[in-house]
Amino acid sequence: MAVVDSTWTPSSWREREALQQPEWPDLARLDEVRRTLHALPPLVFAGEARQVQASLAQVAAGRAFLLQAGDCAESFHDFTRLTDTGAAWSAVSIRERLKILLQMAAVLTYGAALPVLKVGRIAGQFTKPRSASTEMGPDGEIPVFRGHMIHDDAPFAAARVPEPGRMLDGYHFATATLNLVRAFTKGGFADLTQVHQWNQSFVASSPMGQRYEVLAGEIERALGFMAACGIDLAATPQLHQVDVWTSHEGILLDYEEGLTRRDSITGDWYDCSAHILWIGERTRALDGAHIEFFSGVHNPIGLKLGPKASPEEAVELCARLNPDRIPGRLTLIARMGAEQVDDALPPLLRAVRDSKIPVVWACDPMHGNGFTSSTGRKTRHFDAIMSEIEGFFRACRAERVWPGGIHLEYTGENVTECLGGSEELVENQLDDRYETLCDPRLNGRQSLDLAFRLAELMRRP
Ligand code: PEP
Ligand code: CO
Repeated sequence: MAVVDSTWTPSSWREREALQQPEWPDLARLDEVRRTLHALPPLVFAGEARQVQASLAQVAAGRAFLLQAGDCAESFHDFTRLTDTGAAWSAVSIRERLKILLQMAAVLTYGAALPVLKVGRIAGQFTKPRSASTEMGPDGEIPVFRGHMIHDDAPFAAARVPEPGRMLDGYHFATATLNLVRAFTKGGFADLTQVHQWNQSFVASSPMGQRYEVLAGEIERALGFMAACGIDLAATPQLHQVDVWTSHEGILLDYEEGLTRRDSITGDWYDCSAHILWIGERTRALDGAHIEFFSGVHNPIGLKLGPKASPEEAVELCARLNPDRIPGRLTLIARMGAEQVDDALPPLLRAVRDSKIPVVWACDPMHGNGFTSSTGRKTRHFDAIMSEIEGFFRACRAERVWPGGIHLEYTGENVTECLGGSEELVENQLDDRYETLCDPRLNGRQSLDLAFRLAELMRRP
């Protein structure tokens, strides 16, 4: 596989403008951290990244669906807290997020009868792009919060000083998270015979949870039917283990470069901080540092496209990121907003389809639908989220493009951050449990609700 450009190196991005980077105050410490990162083991193996790419190629071909979901911003605080019952907060939080992901995947796989590729925004989603560089704290204007891999979230200037050592903490927390995800998904927790166990009590008591119980019962009966027909279920590993791959936005290029390694088998470069990395809406300038960096690593790459992206720009970005036209290499994640999806998406679908560069098209119905509630909370309405998803399916079908995936921000907790859903969360409930570090996330019930509606949409011709 040819590297895009012979001048590419893991540090060639430094010659380009790098947006959304912190201003590290201590460059000697930054150097030391970079050297340490280089010496640490990779988080993922290049062979795994190739396996994910092959699965994404199935999605690109219309034979599978991508479910990419997780936190807006993972929190370092999760790793230093205990729950009321004295358990490690991190372990509980990872487990609960995984349960919802497995539930959503079960609903989609069963409902749409398609393989679902499961990808978490997990084990490294510690940095955030921001629209404004400052915000107001109680003592006045302070640098905006950019994620725990850069600084603390406390609303004071001293807390917002970037500290390079946080990249090492981020690496170690990502390692611990990935380890537990692997343990859960390979060690019996994700076994399809556990399908009922994924329904948490606060979810199970809701109408969505009950609907899930019915579906879980049907899955159980289907397994029983297969066993009765003589199929040896115990000898079928697909029923007992799943792959949940990791992804995060590759914003912080010092970190990504630090974990980039040449694969000993193929000689190609891989960013071994996650299986999939995506490039955000704010950092996708064609001549910018992020496009330079990700053009040279061989992981599957995601690219966010908002309503300002022109068809020409989209095609140029595809050509730059996938010059060899490899199916599965590039996922375009449209985040248009419910109001704009009908106008903004079709021209991009057409232009990319006509360019013959293979891509996966996924819908992020979260980032184009934010607004501030009358109570001053950053929120999103479930109806707008669903309406963008419907617009995405409509546009893809009209343009004969496979609607390949969904990209969500959710949490396993019973938070009150997004409005609506079958439980009809209203504005004055937002304060009850508003815990996000950045964007509002769907709670467990809303996520399940969305999965059921999405499965119906996928089934519809
Ligand atoms: C995100 O995915 O958290 C994000 C900031 O998205 P976007 O780049 O689409 O704004
Ligand atoms: Co977000």
